[in-house]
Amino acid sequence: KTERLAAILAQTPVIPVLTFDDAKSAVATSKALRDGGLTVLEVTLRTPQALEALQAIVNEVEGVTVGAGTVLEPEHVEKAVRSGASFLISPGSSPRLIASGSEAPVPFMPGVATVTEAMKLWEKGATFAKFFPAGPAGGPEYLKSLVAPLPNVHFVPTGGVSLANAPAYLKLKNVVAVGGSWVAPAELIERGDWAGIEALAREAAALKAR
Ligand code: 3PG
Repeated sequence: KTERLAAILAQTPVIPVLTFDDAKSAVATSKALRDGGLTVLEVTLRTPQALEALQAIVNEVEGVTVGAGTVLEPEHVEKAVRSGASFLISPGSSPRLIASGSEAPVPFMPGVATVTEAMKLWEKGATFAKFFPAGPAGGPEYLKSLVAPLPNVHFVPTGGVSLANAPAYLKLKNVVAVGGSWVAPAELIERGDWAGIEALAREAAALKAR
């Protein structure tokens, strides 16, 4: 599963972090992101319609790899897998969640914000983690400091990442991709501005991961 996760993360410099209130706009947003060049999508389990939205994308949008985000508890793991998620991402790494996430049939990427949390995952054999909330937790400078002591842990910084600061993260040796909601802002989704979302995706897709 680690190789599968590595392959998914290698597909893209930016993973859109998406929050949907209905399946229809989820499908349209995902098509716009794909057309702009972003093909790995994280649908957060933050709304009552999230699983329905995830399933609709899986069924109706070709050419994207869609996972579930904001996975907080074992029940989320089960439901997301049943809805067709290809991967699972959590903002944190509680022991209960790690246990159920590592047994899931799809790759699970936990979240960390400190050195000790990253070490705990590394002890369990994890080599990829979400770094969250990236900006408040220390930004690119913090992550850069982890390269020497933890050269084998790779991060997906998310939280406060933008088109402007993404390059500072993406140039780091231990960053494989960044995540962010900036490519699909709620206002554009509400307005149905799919061309606007596609344009944001295009700019993000042109960023280079190392
Ligand atoms: C997440 O769950 O990853 C964050 O809410 C995304 O953070 P952002 O909105 O600052 O991009």
